[in-house]
Amino acid sequence: MSTSPPILSPLFLIIILTLTPPLSSSPQPPTTCIIGSGIGGASVAHFLRRHSHTGPIHIFERNDVVGGRMATVTIAGNTFEAGASILHPKNYHAVNFTKMLSLKVKSDDSDESVSLGIWNGNGFVFKTIEWNSRFSWLRSIVGIVNSVRVLLRYGVSLFKMNRFVEVTVDSFLKYYQPFESRPVFGTVEEMLKWAGLYNLTTRTLHEELIDAGLSYLLIQELATVITRINYGQSVSISGLAGAVSLAGSGGGLWAVEGGNWQMAAGLINRSDVALHMGEEIESISYVGSAYELNSTIGNSYKCDVTVVATPLDELNISFNPKISIPDRKLQHTHATFIRGLWNPAYFGLNYVADIPELVGTIENSDIPFTCISILKKHSEKDMTYKMFSRQPMTDALLDQIFSVRNETIRIDWGAYPHYHSPEKFAPFMLDDIHLYYVNAFENAASTMETSAVAAENIARLIISRASSEPPSISSDNVTSGFIRSDLHSDL
Ligand SMILES: Cc1cc2nc3c(=O)[nH]c(=O)nc-3n(C[C@H](O)[C@H](O)[C@H](O)COP(=O)(O)OP(=O)(O)OC[C@H]3O[C@@H](n4cnc5c(N)ncnc54)[C@H](O)[C@@H]3O)c2cc1C
Ligand SMILES: *[C@@H]1O[C@H](CO)[C@@H](O)[C@H](O)[C@H]1NC(C)=O
Ligand SMILES: *[C@@H]1O[C@H](CO)[C@@H](O)[C@H](O)[C@H]1NC(C)=O
Ligand SMILES: *[C@@H]1O[C@H](CO)[C@@H](O)[C@H](O)[C@H]1NC(C)=O
Ligand SMILES: *[C@@H]1O[C@H](CO)[C@@H](O)[C@H](O)[C@H]1NC(C)=O
Ligand SMILES: *[C@@H]1O[C@H](CO)[C@@H](O)[C@H](O)[C@H]1NC(C)=O
Ligand SMILES: *[C@@H]1O[C@H](CO)[C@@H](O)[C@H](O)[C@H]1NC(C)=O
Ligand SMILES: *[C@@H]1O[C@H](CO)[C@@H](O)[C@H](O)[C@H]1NC(C)=O
Repeated sequence: MSTSPPILSPLFLIIILTLTPPLSSSPQPPTTCIIGSGIGGASVAHFLRRHSHTGPIHIFERNDVVGGRMATVTIAGNTFEAGASILHPKNYHAVNFTKMLSLKVKSDDSDESVSLGIWNGNGFVFKTIEWNSRFSWLRSIVGIVNSVRVLLRYGVSLFKMNRFVEVTVDSFLKYYQPFESRPVFGTVEEMLKWAGLYNLTTRTLHEELIDAGLSYLLIQELATVITRINYGQSVSISGLAGAVSLAGSGGGLWAVEGGNWQMAAGLINRSDVALHMGEEIESISYVGSAYELNSTIGNSYKCDVTVVATPLDELNISFNPKISIPDRKLQHTHATFIRGLWNPAYFGLNYVADIPELVGTIENSDIPFTCISILKKHSEKDMTYKMFSRQPMTDALLDQIFSVRNETIRIDWGAYPHYHSPEKFAPFMLDDIHLYYVNAFENAASTMETSAVAAENIARLIISRASSEPPSISSDNVTSGFIRSDLHSDL
């Protein structure tokens, strides 16, 4: 790619970064501004530096902590993950970040066993005796295939489900291939098609699982329990989001000791970034030669490249010129943390000890929560619980479910997209200059790792587009190279 063809393949940009010239089209190295200090924004900064990006990098974070949806909550003196909690063993960027930053891994090797129950609103349709995993309290379905009871209930469908997940995970691994064999992607669609994952976004998980030969029972119970825990939604989410959600059943799950947010903090710390905490960007305007970012505390910044690393769906950032992205609703997950004791009578039981330690649920609008689990047993009568629900949990409801409630913490997450099929994707490039959108990829699936994978592609896209002039991405109206006012007087 030493020459710049006027129109590249509309499929994707095939640019081998090692062959691209340095950022030389501008007298000074470009200033990059990133909105959001979650794993997405932190990873963009990290990968830009790894690809020898030398210009200043600013990260803006409206909160007074970094990490975004990776956050902890402290209840009764103990700290737990409040948002993103679990990583898959094949989340290779997260694995590498953790190593590079010398963070400690909290792995899933505990002997503690946890029981799972599937609640249908009237009774437990299914209960395991033991469920070997320290993390099963919330996200994992680890070891479930080993449970004789599960096998008896769901039979061979369990193996078909595992197969479906494995094939999808293997396709995802293509995103770790070396640059030589992995193109830079201009759109989410092309990125997904290249890995063979796109079709999964055009159909529901339900359709995919039926095609894979799974029984209705497994789909309506176990698969539904898992998608409700992971995405707060039913099996009518897309096949891809569903497969990612089910991938929590593979074992070997892990987390960062002390909080996953430390990955973002560490990446930012090591990437020579000017971090602006407590500063919310309210407008992004292209002013002829650069972007002008104004914040709610009255500051104004000039940026050659701007990266949006947060979902735009519930934000009021004003763009000039206006941008156009498909409508997307975020699924809200209400996370409620309780120190106290649950009430067996609510579940039609006599003893606290009879309640499974992880209560999953099926789709039934009468059930006011999606899952409840024990985070920690302080004693037989004093426990910390985590509960997810689609609606806020009122005190009245909590008083039915819990007989003792000494501390209650509520968090309302704009958690992840409400998934559909066929899924519509926002562009990675919000204009034809240098305004990028990492969270366009969240319509594929929302996880820490997918944010990092999308961020790496965006970093490569920035560098490749900044260094070739003018690299048209597709034939429809995209004409820009690196920001130069003389080239963009039409904007
Ligand atoms: C309850 C819950 C459980 C989850 N469980 C898991 C899990 O177990 N495993 C997993 O991998 N994923 C999980 N996820 C998904 C995961 O949290 C997200 O996919 C991932 O963290 C998204 O990272 P991000 O950097 O793209 O966005 P975010 O983490 O949302 O970061 C965006 C940041 O931008 C900031 N911001 C927004 N607007 C502005 C502005 N105008 N100016 C300045 N700053 C701004 C926000 O404050 C935020 O810090 C879970 C999510 C939730 C909510
Ligand atoms: C993780 O780090 C190893 C060793 O440095 C490297 O070989 C590998 O390519 C890295 N993986 C990713 C996904 O970057
Ligand atoms: C995706 O679906 C299209 C149209 O049905 C089909 O032609 C294509 O082969 C499918 N791709 C994959 C990877 O399954
Ligand atoms: C930042 O990184 C340096 C090493 O590069 C380390 O010594 C320091 O403790 C880190 N700071 C934070 C806040 O993580
Ligand atoms: C941003 O701030 C600058 C400087 O204060 C101001 O001139 C400009 O009008 C502001 N832009 C917007 C969109 O508010
Ligand atoms: C965005 O603006 C609308 C209308 O002005 C307002 O109702 C909403 O609360 C705002 N959202 C945020 C996140 O500030
Ligand atoms: C709750 O608080 C009461 C009164 O302070 C105390 O007696 C009780 O032990 C506490 N229970 C739990 C479960 O923390
Ligand atoms: C190209 O841009 C012009 C104006 O900037 C617009 O009128 C036209 O519709 C665009 N064409 C396409 C294919 O987007």
